[in-house]
Amino acid sequence: MADATAIDGRSIEQFLEDTNERRRAAYVDLLRIPSISALPEHAPDIRRAAEWVAGELRRIGMEHVDVSETGGAPIVYADWLHADGAPTAIAYAHYDVQPVDPVGEWRHPPFEPTVEGDRMLARGSSDDKGNLAILLQAAEALLATRGGLPINLRFVFEGEEETTSEHLEPWLAANRDRLAGDVALICDGGFFPGNLPAITVGLRGIMYAQIDVRGPFQDVHSGSYGGSVENPANALAQIIAALKGPDGRIRIPGFYDDVAPISEADREAWARLPFDEDAYRAGLEVDRLVGETGYTTLERRGARPTLDVNGMWAGFQGDGSKTIIPGEAHAKVSCRLVVDQDPERIFESLKAFVTEIAPPGVHVSVHSLGTGRPTLTSTELPATQAAARAIERAFGRAPVFMREGGSIPFVATFENLLELPVVLLGFVPPDGNFHAPNEWMDLGNFETGIRATIELFDELAALPR
Ligand code: BES
Ligand code: MN
Ligand code: MN
Repeated sequence: MADATAIDGRSIEQFLEDTNERRRAAYVDLLRIPSISALPEHAPDIRRAAEWVAGELRRIGMEHVDVSETGGAPIVYADWLHADGAPTAIAYAHYDVQPVDPVGEWRHPPFEPTVEGDRMLARGSSDDKGNLAILLQAAEALLATRGGLPINLRFVFEGEEETTSEHLEPWLAANRDRLAGDVALICDGGFFPGNLPAITVGLRGIMYAQIDVRGPFQDVHSGSYGGSVENPANALAQIIAALKGPDGRIRIPGFYDDVAPISEADREAWARLPFDEDAYRAGLEVDRLVGETGYTTLERRGARPTLDVNGMWAGFQGDGSKTIIPGEAHAKVSCRLVVDQDPERIFESLKAFVTEIAPPGVHVSVHSLGTGRPTLTSTELPATQAAARAIERAFGRAPVFMREGGSIPFVATFENLLELPVVLLGFVPPDGNFHAPNEWMDLGNFETGIRATIELFDELAALPR
């Protein structure tokens, strides 16, 4: 509680040490809530997570705490605006998480947080409840020990990031009065491979689509009908195989039209990054890294587009054999996009190409499951440089400026709509199994991340306005 007893002259470090157990318990409380935004049956948990975050914000002494309705998952807003003359930061994180399947591959139930050594295992422990809890605990430590923050701060915590933030843009547009500020801190990123401190300066965009192939009216005997009808699973495999060449290049006409080439300066800068490619490969337990010919792994990840099947299903999936021709086949396909590709346009090109190459005898349809724009930010922004100094002070090492392969669709919206400089940061380990079984957070990163965030607020306070 931001009670008077806490403002007792303890140093922030002392406060953090004294409250270690309670802070850990708070993080665990949040991790216990299965706030999966993709699954409608978890809507009550989304609400519970929003209420939990709001409760914490009130407890630590943030003001104007509001669980704001959006038509979807609520946005939790809070502010503290008493640092007269200091800049105002808008800090964002998301409280929703990805589904947990395949749940059998988890070493512990995904919503029963478990500590293994230096790691906290739970769905969302990294993405993004780790970063969210770091923000809360940094603000708590400052409010408790100093009785205030060095900057004006507005928190925006969202619950639909993992399903493309449909309601965030209208909310931002309708809440501009609550969003006046000087800088946006998007706390939904992580460290560089090797767990090196990093600031993200680029994110890829995304186009996500589903392909549905329908053949005979239902599953039919594969002996009676094999050879006389098109098999939807075969047809789908044929379509998917045609989307990409052996050189890793995507064959959809026009796909590369708007892809910005990689500058020589970027190529050189990325080649100098302390990237241990062999460790990266070994961590994935593959014998070879593959991708588009002519580019390095970091170039492919940060600055080249991709096309991947995210899921595929058709026909018999059980043990043993069953001789049928499936009546239908489906695939989820997504493309990671780079500057200046337009996700809507890429969707239309995919749809047109799939329709064109579909074999006769089946009905093929393609529908969009969401899009997001790529972003690039400058390393030269004063706020980015401030973040770099803060991270270096806390972690004892200057951060790497990297382009991330993942996507945060609303960042472009944030930049365009609020016209704010954006700093993308976060403290989660790069191999933390986000979206996958056994997601984990590095507890050392967590604790030092709190200190770095406090340093960042102090650094921002010192910037000329
Ligand atoms: N936090 C991630 C984005 C990210 C991934 C940042 C890896 C840094 C490293 C975010 O929650 C995310 O997963 N985004 C989705 C967007 C999608 C659901 C539209 C993604 O990238 O798949
Ligand atoms: Mn995230
Ligand atoms: Mn995510």
